[in-house]
Amino acid sequence: MAGMEGRSIIVTGGASGIGEAAVRLFAGHGALVTSADLDAERGEALAAELTASGRKVQFIRTNIAQESDVRAMVDRAEHAYGRLDGAFNNAGIANAPGLLADMALEEMQRVFGVNLFGTFLCMKYEIQAMLRAGGGAIVNTSSVSAFIYDTQLAAYSASKHAITGLTRAAAAEYGQHGIRVNAIAPSATRTPLYLDYVEANPGYVAKLEAAHALRRACEPIEQARAAMWLLSDDPSFVTGVVMPVDGGYTLY
Ligand SMILES: NC(=O)c1ccc[n+]([C@@H]2O[C@H](COP(=O)([O-])OP(=O)(O)OC[C@H]3O[C@@H](n4cnc5c(N)ncnc54)[C@H](O)[C@@H]3O)[C@@H](O)[C@H]2O)c1
Repeated sequence: MAGMEGRSIIVTGGASGIGEAAVRLFAGHGALVTSADLDAERGEALAAELTASGRKVQFIRTNIAQESDVRAMVDRAEHAYGRLDGAFNNAGIANAPGLLADMALEEMQRVFGVNLFGTFLCMKYEIQAMLRAGGGAIVNTSSVSAFIYDTQLAAYSASKHAITGLTRAAAAEYGQHGIRVNAIAPSATRTPLYLDYVEANPGYVAKLEAAHALRRACEPIEQARAAMWLLSDDPSFVTGVVMPVDGGYTLY
């Protein structure tokens, strides 16, 4: 795919699920990957495995909700690879299922702290680095919850709606500097986050998968491929878009 070979790209949430699939995929296409995650054990192990097979992957333990961590993450990518060309801001968490009127303010703040403020911090420092590099591409991870209601996920849904606002604002402000900013909006994707949710909600999975036009959940690699396409040079005139990668879930 045009524009991955030799490009310096950050992946947040790179230790698991969609982020792990993205680290493997981007590195396999010749990108110089900086994988960032709270989970140092899994993140380091993946970087070591891929480095041993000749890929370029470094891991940095990062809490995207902490400004100093995010600054260090971007510094590390620039220091190791000389510049920053792309970022997949994918780390995110769900709220504990519950109706809105029963939700503690602290739960709303916890989810917004990672999904919205964390994504904002990543974009802030990545954009500064991309301005130094003369351009770049950002892909955020939203969710179909940014389009349609999903049961007992008020904090999560609101935070993903807010990522649409960040994505469109940054696309509008930095397009003139050669920076494209888009998002993918996954539906049910077979990652630990999804499988935990399914386990906590027995009986839900068959109904959910049947609600997709393609009658199945997504594999993490399918989300990673969509993110890679948006980061590559191929969609060179696409910016400010939140693209459902949902097997037709939002058609209904
Ligand atoms: N799996 C799905 O069905 C689905 C659907 C829609 C959207 N998404 C979104 O996709 C993204 C990835 O989810 P996933 O399913 O791969 O989940 P996952 O739990 O498998 O992976 C998420 C990773 O993010 C990391 N992380 C969490 N908080 C962090 C923080 N503060 N700083 C740094 N890293 C942190 C975790 O350690 C984990 O490795 C999330 O933004 C999620 O909201 C997932």
